[in-house]
Amino acid sequence: MEIIRVEGGHHLGGSVEVAGAKNSALKLMAATLLAPGVTVLTNVPNISDVHIMGKVLKHLGAKIEVRGVHELAIDTSEVSSWEAPYELVAKMRASTAVMGPLIGRFGRAVIAMPGGCNIGARKMDLHFLGLEALGVHFDNDHGYIYAEAADGLVGTTVTLSFPSVGATENLIMAAVRARGTTVIDNAAREPEIVDLIRMLNEMGAKISGAGTPVIEIQGVEELYPVEHRVVGDRIEAGTFLVAGAITGDELEVTGFAPSHLGMVLKKMELMGVQFETTGNGARVRRPGKILPTDIQTLPYPGFPTDMQAQVLALTALAQGSSVITENIFENRFMFASELGRMGADIRIEGHHALVRGVDGFSGAQVVSPDLRGGAALVLAGLVAEGETDVSAIHHIDRGYENFVGKLRSLGAHIERVDVADDTDF
Ligand code: UD1
Repeated sequence: MEIIRVEGGHHLGGSVEVAGAKNSALKLMAATLLAPGVTVLTNVPNISDVHIMGKVLKHLGAKIEVRGVHELAIDTSEVSSWEAPYELVAKMRASTAVMGPLIGRFGRAVIAMPGGCNIGARKMDLHFLGLEALGVHFDNDHGYIYAEAADGLVGTTVTLSFPSVGATENLIMAAVRARGTTVIDNAAREPEIVDLIRMLNEMGAKISGAGTPVIEIQGVEELYPVEHRVVGDRIEAGTFLVAGAITGDELEVTGFAPSHLGMVLKKMELMGVQFETTGNGARVRRPGKILPTDIQTLPYPGFPTDMQAQVLALTALAQGSSVITENIFENRFMFASELGRMGADIRIEGHHALVRGVDGFSGAQVVSPDLRGGAALVLAGLVAEGETDVSAIHHIDRGYENFVGKLRSLGAHIERVDVADDTDF
């Protein structure tokens, strides 16, 4: 079993470049199904979630050539299946992003229902309601969803009751091949959705309103393969910016658009952190103490739930009390009890975390409960007294490319260590 071991208290410095965005790359890979031929994606992060999406596409009949570390050439000309199997969907819920493209290309899809996920129930009702409005009929049998648009897809107006990222993406990827015009009202506005729309338009789609709550899609007969560069990962960038803020050391983070982190930077500025934006990134420094602040997670452009854990770790060292409210996912405070083992003072009440700042963390053995919670525990380890061992790091590997190597290049005393798994007998 591998763990991440961090020795706290060492200064960081220098510059780190983030990879392409996980949440964009996964959807762009799914979208290649819509354009028979070879689509080339560059700036693809080398992370385990991308490997799983690669397996899903291969299962469907796509061929994938890995060119160097960050480039994938995906040949979808001979895709002959429309089934995303349970073994893969169970490993990664985002596998369900192939549903929209498969319906768009073949008029049908068979998708294993994702089970409960460790950050909440994560329903898919909005995906189904929206696709039904476009003419898709759904059956549920033995844990699989059978989707079929027997009479083809017909454009219409879909109003989402919540701006779900996944539902917006699945709807867009089906509607690009519908007859007529589809309008998605109350659509999600995340930069990764803008990236998806940009690639689909390069492929020949006619989509307007990217980055606004109203997206209009005029269906087209055909889409063509393209070459596309994945947008930089704002969440990976935010995580390294918190590393600078928590240690109080000056760092530069490159490879992303600071405007994609607007609310995160604003909140951290209120906490006494300073940013200087550069051409393709930002420098971070914190000259004084960490100040408390209240945060609530919201759909973009609000504060992202994917940065909640990392910034909560920062508030846990603030000079006073903060209230963090998680509005997007239930169960996203699981890392907080692990942080408590390192000396943090956090009380969870429903979807609020009441955080009383403490003077410091002490290194401990902690378990990464999920992707961002795991990253937050590593960040805490950077400033903890002594050693912190973070286990269950497969969660971190899902979304961070070479997290340990990048932190080490900044000066952190951190390594992956093979330890005996005591649960084996
Ligand atoms: C995506 C991101 C994830 C991020 C989240 C919110 C990927 C691979 N994942 O997840 O990192 O944290 O956006 O920014 O891109 N919901 C419903 N019914 C639905 C769909 C969603 O009730 O049909 C609820 C979910 O249970 C959740 C909330 O809406 O409480 C947000 O979900 P959604 O925006 O769909 O997130 P994901 O696409 O799953």
